[in-house]
Amino acid sequence: MEVKARAPGKIILAGEHAVVHGSTAVAAAIDLYTYVTLRFPLPSAESNDRLTLQLKDISLEFSWSLARIKEAIPYDSSTLCRSTPASCSEETLKSIAVLVEEQSLPKEKMWLSSGISTFLWLYTRIIGFNPATVVINSELPYGSGLGSSAALCVALTAALLASSISDKTRGNGWSSLDETNLELLNKWAFEGEKIIHGKPSGIDNTVSAYGNMIKFCSGEITRLQSYMPLRMLITNTRVGRNTKALVSGVSQRAVRHPDAMKSVFNAVDSISKELAAIIQSKDETSVTEKEERIKELMEMNQGLLLSMGVSHSSIEAVILTTVKHKLVSKLTGAGGGGCVLTLLPTGTVVDKVVEELESSGFQCFTALIGGNGAQI
Ligand code: MEV
Repeated sequence: MEVKARAPGKIILAGEHAVVHGSTAVAAAIDLYTYVTLRFPLPSAESNDRLTLQLKDISLEFSWSLARIKEAIPYDSSTLCRSTPASCSEETLKSIAVLVEEQSLPKEKMWLSSGISTFLWLYTRIIGFNPATVVINSELPYGSGLGSSAALCVALTAALLASSISDKTRGNGWSSLDETNLELLNKWAFEGEKIIHGKPSGIDNTVSAYGNMIKFCSGEITRLQSYMPLRMLITNTRVGRNTKALVSGVSQRAVRHPDAMKSVFNAVDSISKELAAIIQSKDETSVTEKEERIKELMEMNQGLLLSMGVSHSSIEAVILTTVKHKLVSKLTGAGGGGCVLTLLPTGTVVDKVVEELESSGFQCFTALIGGNGAQI
């Protein structure tokens, strides 16, 4: 049997980092996906005692015998908790880390280890110690702020849950999950994200699971309907960074300067709420006027992100270049490098700014904003 799922990456339009501290954030899915295929061998097949993980786009393969997994992981299939998502305990995570270490990851790929641990946790908790080959392919650049880890957790969980949904309920081509499965999927994906990022807010997995555009505050999800065209240029600074470390850096700053950081988080909250209101408003205000207001909100949000300590010289370089073309930009995601969003008001011709950014070594692309969420 073969099961396929896909989940999109995301951009955060406003509110990253502050959302971890209870502020509102606004995020949207983009049309770049992570694909997961589960292949279950026939009982007679040679590979029916192994779990294999293939990361196609980076040409890596990992494989464990099921006997080794059962020996290392301190639970058995009878304690499966498919319908009650649970956190991975420290003890279990340590056992899983041993299984990952045994795969001798190349030094320059050590950053993958938490993702592989997440894979082993989600796989064994949702469908137990069953043989399979799991193939992962991603269109998202890893670790660049576009939600590659959340898309992985969501697509993997969707495929794992789908393996127990009967064929009759699945349509031809990609189909979305029903509300109950979507909620379950999102909870599991959040548990996966915790293994990778420590203390995530849950916004990345939520927007990847539900798709379109959402307003998110302390786990509360409001699905947004945009009544205006929203075009963004995405620039990848190609500077790699670590979300967990950046999130923890902001938290440490908040401990050192509680009052000042509270004001920063409150300001971000107001920005996100205003942005959501503009995007959703059906009033007579012209698109140009709305775009002007969004530009200012993005500018203010970037200033606040700078004050949280998560901007980077590469991000500032992108911002300066786009300012020369009268465009406004902000970082998206965790910052410290990664990707930058530039609002493209109606009628903007991007050729010149893209040429200038690319000649400085950045990678530019436009993506469709607000598309599908998880599908099987
Ligand atoms: C990362 O895409 C967004 C952050 O706000 C972290 C989170 O919300 O978990 C930086």
